[in-house]
Amino acid sequence: MPLASLPVLRHPTAYDMQRALLHAPQLAPRDYHHIKAAPLSGALGAEVTGVDLAGLGASALAEIADALSDHLVLVFPGQALAPAGQIAFARRLGPVKTWPYARPMPGYPELTELVSGPSDIHNFGGGWHTDSSTFPRPPAFTVLQCIEGPDAGGDTSFANQYLAWESLPEAVRGALAGLRLIHATSKGFGDHSRSTGSSHVTTTPVLVPAEHEGLESSHPVARTHPVTGRKALYVNAGFADRFDGWSPHQSQPLLDALAAHGGIPEFTCRVRWRPGTLVVWDNRCCLHYAHNDYAGQRRVMRRAVVEGEVPL
Ligand SMILES: [Fe+2]
Repeated sequence: MPLASLPVLRHPTAYDMQRALLHAPQLAPRDYHHIKAAPLSGALGAEVTGVDLAGLGASALAEIADALSDHLVLVFPGQALAPAGQIAFARRLGPVKTWPYARPMPGYPELTELVSGPSDIHNFGGGWHTDSSTFPRPPAFTVLQCIEGPDAGGDTSFANQYLAWESLPEAVRGALAGLRLIHATSKGFGDHSRSTGSSHVTTTPVLVPAEHEGLESSHPVARTHPVTGRKALYVNAGFADRFDGWSPHQSQPLLDALAAHGGIPEFTCRVRWRPGTLVVWDNRCCLHYAHNDYAGQRRVMRRAVVEGEVPL
């Protein structure tokens, strides 16, 4: 199918959806010995209990890795890790990278404290995206802990991008094979990508260093997960600027259609935060969306990111 004649994507038929879900291990958690994993929805996410992340043995860690492969998003309530403990846990998952677009937490360069104040209009991550996809090696995992939050509001939604890819009609998947997207820092942070002045998205100022202003990376539209071997749609509405070789104007209709497809409700789960809740997600196969529905209240999150591979 020539790309120019790609149909406007429709909501997947029940057949396409069932065919995609047949491959999902989501509803059949493995038989774990050290953790309990309770699925959050039919698409992705599991609440994990029975484990203390501050004192994690090797076999419990291996079970967490398996659960991450199967469920993509793991929610650990009641952990309340100290900064050093959160960094130590993140390091068990891979190399922890500093995030250069905001001031790190004092004394802990690996952590970014994302603070939303009562007078903030915008929030951090308030649209479907994956973290830092403009990097040549975007983060594999994000490890985010809630320190302080509203009684209601400020949830995060996640969307399974294996399902997004697998539920596309075969002809559309064929047409997209080999297509690449340019992910641009200037798209993601707009005016904030100019390092000449401090800008406020939230109470946490975003300031893109001069050497990152023009940062762009070309990544495949569908990437193959290095552990599961499954293909996932890798379209990031927050950072994807254009298809490689296309103008932004040419790119926008297909980009919009794919982005909308990635976030349909059947692919999602929703996480409610409490102080001490720690969530790990796999940026290589899911999108996330921070809900901006807690005006007038304060929300404090601590984030570490674990480096990933060059997307293939
Ligand atoms: Fe994010």
